Amino acid sequence: MSTKYIGQPISRVDGRAKVTGQAKYAGEYNVPNLAYGVIVSSAIAKGRITNIDSTKALSLNGVLQVFTHKNAPRTAERDENYWDEVAPPGSPFRPLQNDKVMFSGQPVALVVAESFELAMYAASLVQVEYKIEQHVTDLDQVRNEAYVPRPREGIDPPAKPRGNPESALAGAPVKIEVEYSAPVEHHNPMEPYATTVLWEGDSKLIVYDKTQGSVNNHDYVCNVSGLSSDQVRLLSPYVGGAFGSGLRPQYQLVLAVMAALGLKRSVRVTLRRQQMFTLGHRPRTIQNVALGAATDGKLQALIHQAIAETSQYEDYSEPVVNWSGELYQCDNVKLGHKVVHLDFCTPCDMRAPGAVWGLYAIESAMDELAYKLRMDPLELRLKNYTERDLNNNKPFSSKELRECYRQGAERFGWSKRNPEPRSMRDDGSLIGWGFATGAWDAMHFPASAKAVLSADGKLMVGSATADIGTGTYTIMTQIAAETLGLPIEDVTFKLGDSTLPKAPVEGGSFTAASVGTAVKQVCDKVRGKLFRVAQTLPKSPFANAKLEDITFADGHMMLTSDPGRSVSIQEAMRHGGLSSIEESADAAPDEAKRSQYTLHTHSAIFAEVKVDEDLGTIDVARVVSAIAGGRILNPKTARSQIMGGIVWGIGMALEEESVVDHKFGRFMNHNLAEYHVPVNADVHDIDVIFVEEHDSIVNPLGVKGLGEIGIVGVAAAIGNAIFHATGVRVRDLPITLDKVLAGVAVPKREILAPAA
Ligand code: MOS
Repeated sequence: MSTKYIGQPISRVDGRAKVTGQAKYAGEYNVPNLAYGVIVSSAIAKGRITNIDSTKALSLNGVLQVFTHKNAPRTAERDENYWDEVAPPGSPFRPLQNDKVMFSGQPVALVVAESFELAMYAASLVQVEYKIEQHVTDLDQVRNEAYVPRPREGIDPPAKPRGNPESALAGAPVKIEVEYSAPVEHHNPMEPYATTVLWEGDSKLIVYDKTQGSVNNHDYVCNVSGLSSDQVRLLSPYVGGAFGSGLRPQYQLVLAVMAALGLKRSVRVTLRRQQMFTLGHRPRTIQNVALGAATDGKLQALIHQAIAETSQYEDYSEPVVNWSGELYQCDNVKLGHKVVHLDFCTPCDMRAPGAVWGLYAIESAMDELAYKLRMDPLELRLKNYTERDLNNNKPFSSKELRECYRQGAERFGWSKRNPEPRSMRDDGSLIGWGFATGAWDAMHFPASAKAVLSADGKLMVGSATADIGTGTYTIMTQIAAETLGLPIEDVTFKLGDSTLPKAPVEGGSFTAASVGTAVKQVCDKVRGKLFRVAQTLPKSPFANAKLEDITFADGHMMLTSDPGRSVSIQEAMRHGGLSSIEESADAAPDEAKRSQYTLHTHSAIFAEVKVDEDLGTIDVARVVSAIAGGRILNPKTARSQIMGGIVWGIGMALEEESVVDHKFGRFMNHNLAEYHVPVNADVHDIDVIFVEEHDSIVNPLGVKGLGEIGIVGVAAAIGNAIFHATGVRVRDLPITLDKVLAGVAVPKREILAPAA
């Protein structure tokens, strides 16, 4: 037996519960006397509700109530009570609090009935009359009204300009000036949003909610309902995907709580797939990139400006452009990010928010520049490689990006690439090889954990974090088991419960670092206690030893220098008369250390596409992604994270787009039949490399987080490969076959602009 688990490819500890259906999700808690809520969504994008008639719905036997803005209890009046950990500046949306409609699909009523089917039917009978106002949902129409949004907490606004970017660009011998467009995307996790509120009497609630933050949503429920902290327990042990859509409390939560308190009984509210398109999205983003270079490829000017959308009521923004100023050595840089108000709900963080759009643009532009320079795109990156973050003038805590480039290129066979577009063919298809860089933050936030070691040697560790499919349960169990040298089967990790020690929302790729550090610390405390107890045993082999001299392994403490001299953990507890050891720890990042550095994960993505010249169909035949993400806690869950990101990147490049009907101001393809995501047939070879990277600055564990880096840069790599295959540069995502064919069809299309 070995109890070395960190770095091992341990299978998910929650896997069996999930595949056997024992893992229960928020909408699956059945209790006696449960009532069912169905949400009526607004049919217009903007205006006022002039009349809402629930008579017909209420006349049905078994319909309990129809909540509308007319009769719904007034929830908290002040903005700060609607605030959540992830809220952007502004005035958050409050369901059923007034007659105002701010986006299509906004909830305008909640029908509660004895059965789900009855509630569905009754909801169809609620008649809503509107006074329609003119909406604006087309970013292009109002892009001239773009403004600089109020900064979001934790997100750096674009760095100040450096050098003289405009004049440097004007004087550069080789330059490109291009515009890229990216559409709205929706998260579309398999599990729709759902909340089951268990009425425990006396205004005590147990809330099963789909969320990435049980503490965040617990506090939110208390604030909006006026209940005290101990009247609400919010649980979210399993989450069927979220990707950022569960960072903020979603509206079904407050509606379900409202109904349970109003009816004094248990209530469940689930969303339909269509309603999943009314919760926030990756914002449509237009980007202008101008690059100027010397004929040897050295960057002389870099200008990157983004315009994205926000709602009418909050200033949502993302870190889109900063990456461009950090990735490359360039003395003349200008970065900007603006937003415009549209009549949609506020956009919402989606896997690597900002970075996916920003890196799509800069890494496509670098590719375009490489062709203009007649230079290998990888060589161009190396030519402008930087060991310092010049936006902030700080060194990187670690940056093995060069190694990502090297190992990725070697695995992919990049050196065999013929640089000429349309030069590579296989079996009648055009073959294209493309390349891009990725980057994301290595964040770390305060988090707490507790541990209980029982006399039978079983360990429970808990923290109110989440596992949204990321592997949190597994890696935390590994850290705890290894720290105390216990068999992994004897360790249980608990999460998704607001009564557990506080943790931030699970997001930003910061959970492994933040919660992992807390788990390590609390287990170290238990270690200390066990050691001290072992020292008091009669004839203790550790009488003259220090804790540093001891190894915890295989359920024992032993002298590292003489493993034969050991004490079993259970024996120590028995002799010490301990029925359990309980500890808690509050872990915080070492800001003094971290603030001196820029802390990032990096990646290099190589993609091969096959394009059918007649049909324009595109297959992503191969992707190699080399990741520098610090220490890898579990290569199996880590690889899954990166693979998931790559698959999504394929979707981003070729398929995903929430299409807006601007006449009605709503998303038309609000279902999984018409909102295309990659399926098995779209996904071929995926190869993930973890480059060795040691980082003692980022946190004591040396982990950087992997939830997001996998998706960043993938769309650019694929777009670049499509250009290499076809000679067609499509600058608006997704790159669908019609856009490729339109490009191929143009006779004598300018493929290579002559180098100036
Ligand atoms: Mo992620 S967008 O921080 O869930």
